Amino acid sequence: MELPAPHGVALVTGGNRGIGRATAQALLAGGHPTVVGSRSGSAPDGVPAVQMDVTSTQSVNDAFDEIEQNYGPVSVLIANAGITRDTLLMRMSDDDLDAVIQANLIGAIRCMRRAARNMVKARNGRIVLVSSVVWALGSAGQTNYAAAKAGLIGAGRSVARELGGRGITVNIVAPGFIDTDMTQELSAADRAAILAAIPTGRYGEVSEVADLIAYLCSPQAAYINGAVIPIDGGLGMGH
Ligand SMILES: NC(=O)c1ccc[n+]([C@@H]2O[C@H](COP(=O)([O-])OP(=O)(O)OC[C@H]3O[C@@H](n4cnc5c(N)ncnc54)[C@H](OP(=O)(O)O)[C@@H]3O)[C@@H](O)[C@H]2O)c1
Repeated sequence: MELPAPHGVALVTGGNRGIGRATAQALLAGGHPTVVGSRSGSAPDGVPAVQMDVTSTQSVNDAFDEIEQNYGPVSVLIANAGITRDTLLMRMSDDDLDAVIQANLIGAIRCMRRAARNMVKARNGRIVLVSSVVWALGSAGQTNYAAAKAGLIGAGRSVARELGGRGITVNIVAPGFIDTDMTQELSAADRAAILAAIPTGRYGEVSEVADLIAYLCSPQAAYINGAVIPIDGGLGMGH
């Protein structure tokens, strides 16, 4: 089967550290021009960056305009930006709820909405949303975060149905516990309890998640659409 060459650029939101940074590096290593977006506007060495805050429609749209002017249309979107505001339900403020749903769920939808414009024109595109194993397992202290990550499944699959006929795929990856700044925030006791529950007995590496995302963006993955792919060492098995 003849596979189309990649066109346009990849945008990785939250691409200046952690999983996003490794994903930008994996896409570049695979020959795909890549730009990263983050609130701080910083980026790994040698990777172009745009300042973007996914909680603002204006900021997302401005960032896409800037990328299109300087690098070309966005043909690959990795909606990776995310935050946690962990606390028990009865202590969870409206601000904890709003901030996490805005950054993790609505931010990804905003980026898909803006990216779809050019992808539909080109009749080609790849979208990967970064969810979490907690979307299905739930997680005490993460009602806001688990709700946002579960929301990404419904959002992503809806867009997969809308745009599948235009050569655009939307897939969702659901990482377990990966060694990044986000998981460093957990207490030593929580880290030990989590480790004991992971069948492979270790945390995941950012490069392992990045390689999966890069594969989903490749021409070889053209028939994978609307999939939720766990990468969690077996933590979420059965869900
Ligand atoms: N680490 C894990 O174990 C794990 C497991 C499952 C899922 N995930 C998910 O994987 C993704 C990446 O996680 P990570 O562990 O790599 O996190 P991280 O190291 O904390 O990095 C988060 C990234 O998101 C960016 N970001 C946060 N809020 C943003 C906003 N409003 N607008 C634009 N960028 C924003 C940050 O940019 P700034 O530097 O500018 O703040 C940063 O680049 C997240 O969606 C997370 O929920 C992580």
